[in-house]
Amino acid sequence: MKLKVGITYNLKKDFVQQENQPIDFLEEFDSEETIDAIRKVLENEGHEVIKLGGDPGLIDRLRKTSVDLVFNIAEGLRGRNREAHIPALLEFLNIPYTGSDPLTLSLTLDKAMAKRVVMAQNIPTPQFKKIEKMEDLDGLDLRYPLFVKLCYEGSSKGVRLDSKVLDPRSLEEKVRGLLKTYASPLLIEEFVVGPEFTVGILGNEDPYVLGVMQIEIKGSPPEESIYSLEIKREWEKRVQYHCPPLIDQNLLKRIEEVAIRSYRALECRDVSRVDIRVGQNHTPYFLEINPLPGLSPVYGDLVIMARGMEWDYTRLVKAIFHHALKRYGWMK
Ligand SMILES: Nc1ncnc2c1ncn2[C@@H]1O[C@H](COP(=O)(O)OP(=O)(O)OP(=O)(O)O)[C@@H](O)[C@H]1O
Ligand SMILES: [Mg+2]
Repeated sequence: MKLKVGITYNLKKDFVQQENQPIDFLEEFDSEETIDAIRKVLENEGHEVIKLGGDPGLIDRLRKTSVDLVFNIAEGLRGRNREAHIPALLEFLNIPYTGSDPLTLSLTLDKAMAKRVVMAQNIPTPQFKKIEKMEDLDGLDLRYPLFVKLCYEGSSKGVRLDSKVLDPRSLEEKVRGLLKTYASPLLIEEFVVGPEFTVGILGNEDPYVLGVMQIEIKGSPPEESIYSLEIKREWEKRVQYHCPPLIDQNLLKRIEEVAIRSYRALECRDVSRVDIRVGQNHTPYFLEINPLPGLSPVYGDLVIMARGMEWDYTRLVKAIFHHALKRYGWMK
């Protein structure tokens, strides 16, 4: 079957970093290299591919150019529903697309909301409080050390090596700084002391684990390390990825189970990457889920994981695409 496939995305290079914007303002956006890599995979399968972008001009382009399906990796431009904007538009225009629907994309982007849903299924996740203003810190009933991050950002935006705080004074200072810099709600969580993993999940009715990847930050004990912006930007020097991970089968099973249960609880589709940290009693804690995982052929965590599992880039992109086609009943 030959299809006309549009790709929707937001490119880093289409934005200019303003002086008053935080240094990680553009962190989530993609590079042209990633879009071309996806395009190549789809073209090699015989489809016609049209790059559609993800700016407001997309509305006109979608009405002028008919496509059978959209391969969506657009992170969106603003607000906590930004990842849902393009999928919602596609639903409005009755155009099929890859990946999760607007409800899941908004729900998972807001980490506090996602945690509430996950908690309702008794999936372990750190205790937390959402903070919108300094007064919300009053009566905080959480156990130190704590971790402070932005409530609806990804790519470690706002996460630094000093995001872990040990006492109320440093908590207050951190919260004040982040509220000022990002003008966005925060999430304060109990810090999970233990090794970190990220889990790739694919599929729909019967989701399965692509791989479990342990993230070791070089020179930092696994219990303490933080996969922060500084580390992600220098990943080649500072991170050692282990996929498959160096852990026993029992723990591996428990991690996979938390990841799959979270994927189901949040009704993800086609693909997602779940971040997990293993705390006391070998309990895997859900940190967050990424239904639009980065697909950079060079540094995407999911892509590195796939490589560890001996899946090349083509196989990974095809798997995502084919899960969408099956979901729409276009493929067996
Ligand atoms: N409660 C916690 N306890 C311990 N470490 C944490 C906790 N929350 C976050 N971290 C650390 O901070 C990192 C970034 O946090 P998180 O994954 O929630 O944010 P993100 O910016 O959305 O990430 P991504 O780049 O995957 O989109 C995690 O990978 C982990 O190292
Ligand atoms: Mg993460």
